Amino acid sequence: MSENLAQRAEALREQINYHIYRYNVLGDPIITDHEYDKLFHELRQIEEDNPDLATPDSPTLRVGSDLSSDFDKIQHAAPILSLANAFDGDDLVAWEERNLKRLPSNTQLDYVLEPKLDGLTIVITYENGILTHAATRGNGELGDNVTANVKTINTVPLRIPVDANKGAPPERLVVRGEILFHKDDFDALNKEQVAQGLDTYVNARNTASGSLKQKDSRETAKRNLTAYIYSIVDSDGVMLETEWDIVGYLRDMGFNVITNADHYPTLSNIIQQLPTWEAKRDSLPFEIDGLVIKVNDLSHVRELGVSGKDPRGAIAFKFPAEEATTKLLDVTINIGRTGKVTPTAQLEPVFIGGVTVSNASLHNYDQIESLDIRMGDMVIVKRSGDVIPYVVGPVTGARTGDEAPINPPEICPFCGTPLIQPEGAVDWFCPNPKCPERVFRSLEFFVSRGAMDIDGMGPQTIQALIEQGLITDEADIFYLTEEPLLELEGFAQKKVDNLLASINMAKSRPFAQVLASLGIDGIGTTVSNLITDNFDTIDDLLQSTSAIKSAEQAFIEYVQPIIDSAKGDMFGQTDGVKKVIYRLNHPNTELAPRYLSAKDVQASVKRFLKPLNETSPVSDEQLTGMLDKLVDLMQASSKLHNIEGLGPILVQNIVDWFADEHHQNLLKKMRDAGVNMQAEKKEIARTDLAGKTFVLTGTMSVSRNELKALIEAHGGKVSGSVSKKTSYVVAGDSPGSKVEKAEKNGVSIITEDELRAMISGE
Ligand code: IVH
Repeated sequence: MSENLAQRAEALREQINYHIYRYNVLGDPIITDHEYDKLFHELRQIEEDNPDLATPDSPTLRVGSDLSSDFDKIQHAAPILSLANAFDGDDLVAWEERNLKRLPSNTQLDYVLEPKLDGLTIVITYENGILTHAATRGNGELGDNVTANVKTINTVPLRIPVDANKGAPPERLVVRGEILFHKDDFDALNKEQVAQGLDTYVNARNTASGSLKQKDSRETAKRNLTAYIYSIVDSDGVMLETEWDIVGYLRDMGFNVITNADHYPTLSNIIQQLPTWEAKRDSLPFEIDGLVIKVNDLSHVRELGVSGKDPRGAIAFKFPAEEATTKLLDVTINIGRTGKVTPTAQLEPVFIGGVTVSNASLHNYDQIESLDIRMGDMVIVKRSGDVIPYVVGPVTGARTGDEAPINPPEICPFCGTPLIQPEGAVDWFCPNPKCPERVFRSLEFFVSRGAMDIDGMGPQTIQALIEQGLITDEADIFYLTEEPLLELEGFAQKKVDNLLASINMAKSRPFAQVLASLGIDGIGTTVSNLITDNFDTIDDLLQSTSAIKSAEQAFIEYVQPIIDSAKGDMFGQTDGVKKVIYRLNHPNTELAPRYLSAKDVQASVKRFLKPLNETSPVSDEQLTGMLDKLVDLMQASSKLHNIEGLGPILVQNIVDWFADEHHQNLLKKMRDAGVNMQAEKKEIARTDLAGKTFVLTGTMSVSRNELKALIEAHGGKVSGSVSKKTSYVVAGDSPGSKVEKAEKNGVSIITEDELRAMISGE
């Protein structure tokens, strides 16, 4: 047994040393951090349980280093320790038992629980309240001096206490914390990269590290980094007894402390909290990779001391892995209802966070190319929360040379139409609206809950109906009859009756719901409600959109020769001219909204055309002609453009969708079948719910969207989450946690019937 363990320990040491080398020397790791942590944890456990198996060269005795030759070094006031890991409740119980053995009998331990922020450690020193230096963790003894860079981070106070009323500053205070990107700041940074045509960053933590280690602090200042401070490394003049007091003290000094840290009387309280934290992980503003559990009483912490490089008084609880490495076996493609092509990775099955994953999204072919993912690569796959698993990138260090590039297919595998990549788009599309896969996806969406909500029409039924030639588009659903349905496999009389009844019911869905079911890009329930608030019938909408399309076409036809003459040599043109030409080519999104309310349209147009006039003068006659056409376009589109909440892109999507003959025929067919294409009469008082905000939870007698539309039709608002602003939570069957939250916040909870009574004034 012990021989086996000795062999295992040796094998682990070998593997761990190899991965340390790959990570630190080659900069090319071939396993995820979590996979590494697991190996490390296993080795440490063996060595702790069998001290005779520990060797002086074990990697468990090594402290990692982030030192870089670009910075001066700072000697830390005390070693910057790290934390041992726990992976489940049993590991935590074992940790407490080990600790209790080292403390006087009958000791009761209480704890502080904090999220484990996934950033990089920072150590900041204040002397008499003034920030004097800041260093990275480095090798735990020496750190990189990044003072100038840290001073650019807004959440780091340059002087403490920030509020002078909190008393005098301590003589010396060395604090430790974490530097990171808030998720929305990281997204904004990536949006900015895209806007500038640069590559996006994949990993927030590495990007935070790169941002902090800039040689020029002005570069750090451009990044929106955040610092959280969670512990005291050393001090003169601070006397505190507990970890929980430290949190309060740091807060009083004006540091950005983790607001959701909490104090618990026992370890089992902490263990109870673990699932809650895992569930709320995705909704936090920052990335966390686990929790930190700290013994509260600092005298116990001192007594427990340190094991290797980890204090015994605290431990990191690591969440189940969200990432794993596995082999990319094949790439298949999905075609969505808009024709969008999504490449999907077929993987060697791998267990991630409790689930076996065998396929994952590759987003699009531009992404495959920019990440240089190749067929046969070992890839890192991430699965987090409700997000569909996706491929983060290849493990280039594991390549054998047999990997092959992945190119987009030339034709749609479902209908054989050549695929296209519209100018400026990252995605490829199948442009054939009759592509059987596109039709299938559109139908699947059309009948789904929240759309037309047709019960009994699952994907298999849709597939069978398409195969039998019974439906080719959404409208055909409303022409289905009993006889051919009875001939389908597995369709008995009862099933057919039910299906026909639910199709019949769907015909009278509110007009806004019908519109939202059509799958027009960007037109969900909220936008379709805005539309039906302003257009009573489908005819109004069709008339309006076709008038806009004609005016838009007339404008483009008129300006085309002017654009062509100005274009001459595009390379020689200024950006100003290019912008003007772009806008003239997209008058409905780029021009109409701008001049809608302009008092002096002629002067505005003149100003706008100025750059063009300088290179290739526009005659007065041309100017007047453009103006006339633009005014026509403005008049035609003002009703749509004036709807608050409808931006120009959405207006363009709506106009383009309704101008398409295929869609016009579809609508006609639906109307002829008796599908509701008319908004409810608006005589109903729209004010009975005015100023009230509702949150809906649980199953109601109708779909939630229908109820939402009803509330909004009476002037109320519907929100997705409970807050102080919520007036009522409407609870249906099996309501969710929103009811508890409402109770906590003193928000009234009502039933659907009570809501309806409120509306009818009973
Ligand atoms: S306490 C003596 N609390 O997790 C150890 N660390 O190895 C004091 N970390 O890189 C650390 N969030 O920088 C503590 N709330 C938190 C933390 C935290 C993240 C980091 C720490 C270190 C790693 C643990």
